[in-house]
Formats: sequence, C-alpha cells, structure tokens
Amino acid sequence: MKKIKILGIVGSFRKESFNKQLALEVKKLLEDSVEFTLLDFQDVPFFNQDLEANAPDAVKRVRSEVKNADALWIFTPEYNQFFPGVLNNLIDWLSRPASKSEKQVLSGKIVTISGMSPGMCGTMLAQHHLISLLNYLNMKVMSNPKVAIPSAMNMIKDGKVDFKMSSGFILNQINSFIDFIEKNNKNI
Ligand code: FNR
Repeated sequence: MKKIKILGIVGSFRKESFNKQLALEVKKLLEDSVEFTLLDFQDVPFFNQDLEANAPDAVKRVRSEVKNADALWIFTPEYNQFFPGVLNNLIDWLSRPASKSEKQVLSGKIVTISGMSPGMCGTMLAQHHLISLLNYLNMKVMSNPKVAIPSAMNMIKDGKVDFKMSSGFILNQINSFIDFIEKNNKNI
C-alpha cells in the first residue's frame, strides 16, 4: 500500500507556537505508513487580485504542495474567537484556480482540524468558523473527533508543551483520520 501523504498547516508563524508544537506531536505519534510534512507559507504575500494572473512563485509552490497531498491537517490558533489572518490569506489564495481550465486545489481535498490555546475554549470557536469555510470550499472535512486543547500554559514543562495528558485524544484523532482518508481517497 502506498504511503499516505498528510500536509500539516500551522496557522501561526510564532517560533514557540503551541499549534506548531501540537503539529510536531502529531508527526511523532503517526505511524510509519504516513508521510507528514509541514507547509512553509511565510513567504506567501497578501492576496491581491491584480497578482492572480501571474501568481507569485510562493503561491505556485503552496498550490502544488497542497495538490500533491492526500490530505491536509490544519492546526489553528484562536485570534478574537476566529482563525488567524495568515490562515485566511493562504486559504484565499488556494481557493482560486491557477487558470480558467483548472479546479481550485482545495475542492474535494480531505482535511481535519486541531488547535490549542491558553484560553478556556481551546480554539473551539476558531475551529467552528474554519469548518464553515472548508465546507463552503467543498472540502471533505473530518470534523469529529478533533482535538481542542485549552489552558496551554498549564502544560508547559521545561519551556515546552508536555502532551502526556492529551496524547489519548491526539491518537484518537490520528486513527480516525487515517481511517477517514482510506475510506475517502480513491488513490489509497
Ligand atoms: C489571541 N489569543 C486568544 N486566545 C483564545 O483562546 N481566544 C481568543 O479569542 C484569542 N484572541 C487572540 C487575539 C490575538 C490578536 C492574539 C495575538 C492572541 C491568544 C492566543 O491563543 C495565543 O497567543 C496563542 O499562543 C496563539 O497560538 P500559537 O501562536 O501559540 O500557536
């Protein structure tokens, strides 16, 4: 069986981002049968319709990475009970086809979401808004189970997040997502 390719997208550029640490924990817990890489999109410019016809190289690169992935896993912070602008900007670019004869790369793409925050709701509101957007874009969303980790500050040990208390929930989402990918991706 071919290796499943999951592309992780972290909606924070912060060096010590909780959500990046969560993404790396998922990578650590995933089986060998899955290839998990993180999308680097810090060089994607603000969306501007004037740039669309001759898209910047960074946009071409992220489009192609998303196209080649079997599934996406988005790790979203919560900003003002919403998902961050950098994620929205990336999705705006990806939601536009490269040319009139092509489909946009998110349509039909399998996706799930997780998030982590210092607040009490663990990004649940941001996730709720993000799911509406992904559904609008005709993505195949696995919306349950999904991890939403609150009170991130209480999980820090020696400067890093210790995921011991959450690993059961993370593994549950991993196993459900692999199952979901196998059922929904005809190429696997
Ligand atoms: C926040 N934060 C925040 N947290 C939360 O739980 N609910 C919220 O609505 C908000 N709103 C918010 C707005 C803005 C503009 C910022 C910068 C931050 C706090 C946020 O969860 C925290 O900074 C996390 O550390 C961000 O995620 P990363 O960067 O650690 O992955």
